[in-house]
Amino acid sequence: MSMEKQLVELESVWNDELQVCQSIEDLESVRLKYLGRKSGLIHQLLRALGTLDLEEKKKFGARINHLKQAVQEAVEQKQSHLSSGPSEKTIDTFDPTLPGKAPNNGHVHPITIVMNDIIEIFRGMGFDLATGPEVETDYYNFEALNIPKDHPARDMQDTFYLSDDLVLRTHTSPVQIRVMESQQPPIRIIAPGKVYRRDADVSHTPMFHQVEGLIVDTSITMGNLMSVLDQFLKEIFSKNVQTRFRPSYFSFTEPSAEVDISCVFCSQKGCRVCKGSGWLEILGAGMVDPAVFSSVKYDSEKFTGFAFGLGVERIAMLKYGINDIRLFFENDMRFLRQF
Ligand code: DAH
Repeated sequence: MSMEKQLVELESVWNDELQVCQSIEDLESVRLKYLGRKSGLIHQLLRALGTLDLEEKKKFGARINHLKQAVQEAVEQKQSHLSSGPSEKTIDTFDPTLPGKAPNNGHVHPITIVMNDIIEIFRGMGFDLATGPEVETDYYNFEALNIPKDHPARDMQDTFYLSDDLVLRTHTSPVQIRVMESQQPPIRIIAPGKVYRRDADVSHTPMFHQVEGLIVDTSITMGNLMSVLDQFLKEIFSKNVQTRFRPSYFSFTEPSAEVDISCVFCSQKGCRVCKGSGWLEILGAGMVDPAVFSSVKYDSEKFTGFAFGLGVERIAMLKYGINDIRLFFENDMRFLRQF
């Protein structure tokens, strides 16, 4: 066989032979076949160079040396690859009956679970969903809600200001204004979403979730407010909870109420969570203030309405018996997996 033919054949097969090697032993025999000092194919070719004339010696010599170098490098590479991989021994003792690694399934965050529960209950009562921006103007977040310029909520200490006129909304109440501006009564909406306040301790995080509610029609009464919220609280906690409405103050409602439920931990015997009172404060509500109606150009002689706002984290903490709100947002899987 001519030198040319032998060389072409070697060049075309060596790499395939090398790549199929599964062990150091296989590799060694391939190495010997090509690079062996005495009978290696490449050395045989080098020896055969002596029979050629000068011109051919030069031409084939360079090609053979090039091939030799390529084979050497590939052998070294394969060697380190084989010795770093699993040894044959571990392959032999692989036990296919051992249990596999369980995949890490994702699931719904506890706040989302409770948020969805709340939304479902109100949808069942015929409420529609509304949303609004988390970056709000001073007007929607405060002014239109009858929150006066000197109100503490407007303090830099409590509110994240983005500019003189822009804030991260401190509550979902501005959605009330946006909805009333865009449609006429009857209105029956809830507005779930994120809100922001400069506050952080066991019961406050700078971002948390609220659900706002608003009903406006021609003859809405405080009795309607009480029955809707009573029904909601019985559905979200348990049909055995008692509700209590205490007079309170919000600038956008008049009269205003704070709503309590009987303590879900001690059945009103008095415990650490309810501080011995037997009651847990759960949400704020009231009849829409005529000043708010006039911001949206509703006739307050013709229409009445009620509004409420509740904190989702607070409800989730009471439902699941969690005493530190920050746990929801630390993303510790040992906590999150429990829901
Ligand atoms: N916006 C109030 C807050 O964040 C909650 C609230 C109270 C909303 C009474 C209402 C309401 O709609 O009527 O503290």
